[in-house]
Amino acid sequence: MPRKHILLTLLVIALLNLPTMPAFAGGWAVATLDAWPGAVVAGEPVEIGFAIRQHGVTTLEALAPVITATHRETEASFAVDAVEDAPGHYSATLIFPEAGEWDWMLTAFGPDQPLPTLTVLPEDTDPEATPEAPDDPDAALAELGATLFVAKGCAVCHEHNGVEFELFASNNRGPELSDYSGDPDFLAQWLADPASVDPSTAMPDLDLDEGEIEALIAFLNADAEPAE
Ligand code: HEC
Repeated sequence: MPRKHILLTLLVIALLNLPTMPAFAGGWAVATLDAWPGAVVAGEPVEIGFAIRQHGVTTLEALAPVITATHRETEASFAVDAVEDAPGHYSATLIFPEAGEWDWMLTAFGPDQPLPTLTVLPEDTDPEATPEAPDDPDAALAELGATLFVAKGCAVCHEHNGVEFELFASNNRGPELSDYSGDPDFLAQWLADPASVDPSTAMPDLDLDEGEIEALIAFLNADAEPAE
């Protein structure tokens, strides 16, 4: 085969393979919700704020993020554009039209980032009502930690069996954490400011508050043997 044809054939093969290659090669970012929303009631507006960090590190400005939500059972769905309210920080007001479980995700830069399933309460629920105390507070805290592990974007860089999430970080990727457990004091410092522990780390400071850190530690250490 003449050389030109070989090159052409290779080019065609490369092009044919394109759709199977990740569309986000080189471009990925971590979305971090400011907070996991408390009681969300059908028909009531809920404000969602989040930061977008390229490769988990530098905040990305001037994006046009979209939040898409789909009801698990009825498949009702809607999409809302977010606006930038501070450099690299965005917010959107969502109204979930009906009660039930909603799958939702954020599209901002690179692949869509799924958010943890959200349970929307029926229209007549009083959002201020004090929720019933959980039977097992430790398990409830660890469960909140699992939710935050996805909502804060940890799952973009870290695999963990305790959450459903398709990891997509291609670099800056951290270790698998399914069997991980760590000293709570170390973890509290690490999660609050990784660079204060290791100045050369690729793990970002995601602006977590104390309560979030406590829940994340409970999740990470959930299966660990209690310390002697
Ligand atoms: C941008 C990618 C990225 C994100 C997002 C990220 N991490 Fe990491 N993480 C890393 C990397 C990389 C390491 C490996 C340590 C290093 O490079 O210094 C790491 C290490 C860790 C460790 C091991 C610490 C140790 O030395 O024992 C824990 C635990 C951890 N991360 C938890 C989290 C949690 C919880 C979140 C979300 C709040 C998170 N990470 C978000 C990249 C990330």
